[in-house]
Amino acid sequence: MSGTPPGRVVTPGTPDPLSDGELVVLRDERGRRSLVVLEAGGTWHSHSGAVAHDDLLGRPEGSIVRTPKGVEVIALRPTREDFVLKMRRGAQVVYPKDQAMIVALADVRPGMHVIEAGAGSGALSLALLDAVGPGGTVMSVERREDHAADARRNVERFHGGPVANWELVIGDVSDVLRDRAAHRVVLDLPEPWHCVGPAAGALAPGGILLTYLPSVPQVMQVTEALWDHGAYTDVATSETLVRGWDVDGVAVRPAHRMVAHTAFLTRARRVPTRAEGGPALPRKRRRDVAVD
Ligand SMILES: C[S@@+](CC[C@H](N)C(=O)[O-])C[C@H]1O[C@@H](n2cnc3c(N)ncnc32)[C@H](O)[C@@H]1O
Repeated sequence: MSGTPPGRVVTPGTPDPLSDGELVVLRDERGRRSLVVLEAGGTWHSHSGAVAHDDLLGRPEGSIVRTPKGVEVIALRPTREDFVLKMRRGAQVVYPKDQAMIVALADVRPGMHVIEAGAGSGALSLALLDAVGPGGTVMSVERREDHAADARRNVERFHGGPVANWELVIGDVSDVLRDRAAHRVVLDLPEPWHCVGPAAGALAPGGILLTYLPSVPQVMQVTEALWDHGAYTDVATSETLVRGWDVDGVAVRPAHRMVAHTAFLTRARRVPTRAEGGPALPRKRRRDVAVD
């Protein structure tokens, strides 16, 4: 890949024509999208017809070419959302609607140190890296070597090479958490209740643990584990529904289809345990904790 990966940002106003080796998303009139690496002399084939890469190289982002079948195809650099939805994946990715809420509810901010697991396909890793910025770090832990390889390929493809503030560790996150410190711990794995204790060791009071779980029994089990542990409070669960709208002249209505349920987000704040000077009585369960 050239020095123009999709994740890079150029000075606004700078001419930035599409170049050889660059990743673009090609979208036809029906909204079908493909991620394509532009190569001099290359051709992209689809149901819409063929597009010669040379017809796009050197032209501005947003340029339109017409295929021999008369279909217009637009070329844009992929957003992180485009990339995540089209990148190669082994494990199921965290969708952009949930990535956004994870960053908000876990309060992931520039300069923070975040530990996440499992790395899976690296989709959430990309969102967390953007949220912490160059002054922060993300450690992604993955116990399957094949999934770790997927995550590395996707993260480095988006960033155009190795990422200085990203560490990918192969192993069980409970082991890794035992001797690390983090501002935030984000877990997208099936049995996070096993990680509640190790995460408390990595988080200082005030830190946040967030879990991403698809089913109600899992949410019940992690919520019990969080309250029972003694180092957490403000345990709260929410899910995020995003409904698109079709806006076409006076025909304005909700889209017929939407991604409804993906997963529940359960967030907890780390507080001092009794041994750390916390309250002697069991921590009260605050049933009124709400996620706004
Ligand atoms: C759904 S995937 C994660 C997807 C990822 N968040 C993304 O957005 O691409 C869950 C991953 O957790 C990994 N995993 C499960 N338990 C783990 C553990 N205890 N430690 C580390 N990784 C674990 C699995 O191997 C799997 O790759």
